[in-house]
Amino acid sequence: MSFTSSHEQQESSSRPKVTIQSIQQKKGKQRITCLTAYDYPTARLVDEAGIDMILVGDSLSMVVLGQENTLAITVDEMLHHTRAVRRAVHSGLVIADMPYGSYQLGAEEALHNAARFIKEAGAEAVKIEGGEKRVGLISRLRDAEIPVMGHIGLTPQSLLLMGGYKVQGKSLADVEQLMRDALALERAGVFCIVLEGIPREVAAMITAEVHVPTIGIGAGPECDGQVLVLHDILNLTFAPQAKFVRHYADVAATIRRALESYKADVEAGTFPSDGESYHLPAETRLALETICERKRALRK
Ligand code: KIV
Repeated sequence: MSFTSSHEQQESSSRPKVTIQSIQQKKGKQRITCLTAYDYPTARLVDEAGIDMILVGDSLSMVVLGQENTLAITVDEMLHHTRAVRRAVHSGLVIADMPYGSYQLGAEEALHNAARFIKEAGAEAVKIEGGEKRVGLISRLRDAEIPVMGHIGLTPQSLLLMGGYKVQGKSLADVEQLMRDALALERAGVFCIVLEGIPREVAAMITAEVHVPTIGIGAGPECDGQVLVLHDILNLTFAPQAKFVRHYADVAATIRRALESYKADVEAGTFPSDGESYHLPAETRLALETICERKRALRK
């Protein structure tokens, strides 16, 4: 642990603040970058790397909390992590993923939960999964001044209905439904749409059709931007690697090596060294030595 507070360490960011408007202006001009983050140190690194959007994804449930899927994570758990990310991020747009059960059970409850992410955790937008069936809710959220990121295709919160994490949009009927979903989300007022786990040809068609940016994950390179789970690109997840994940670092191997070295040093007595230890001030040490000497002399 460092004795310097995180606030003292913070440097002022030189990058202009990312807004939903600046994200939308990038469509067709510049690719948009998005990564997940769930805590202060990683969110800070993601923001300092200049990533446009930082998504506190409900994938947190699996990659950080070790749960089997995303269904069990609660609003309070998501709020806890969103707050940590908020403290770290100065320029990127912070988006909170609304967890399963927080927006499917009624509009009033959904509005209340979404407002908590804005008010209590400092999120700047929320993400909800689903297409046409979410149109009414998205309008209500916008009326409550809450920007919404849409999410269609392989929506992990539909795991039970989908019968597994399967690539969506393979049949003609499914492609048509995906297109209807994307257009409905756009009309309802989302500021961008995540396209997950769909053929690149379908993502390309949707990207060409809608005026809001599309952000792909397992949806090919024609999307306006890309999002990945941070722990996936760092090789810090323990699940088999999905086809669409690229490892940019092997952090698991780095951590393993560090832990083995620490263990070996402690066991060998080479950690901590004298340089890694605190020392008494010279006069206190001298006084202490004198006292100890006197005690030794008295014992003789
Ligand atoms: O929860 C998540 O991480 C997501 C993705 C789009 C990456 O929803």
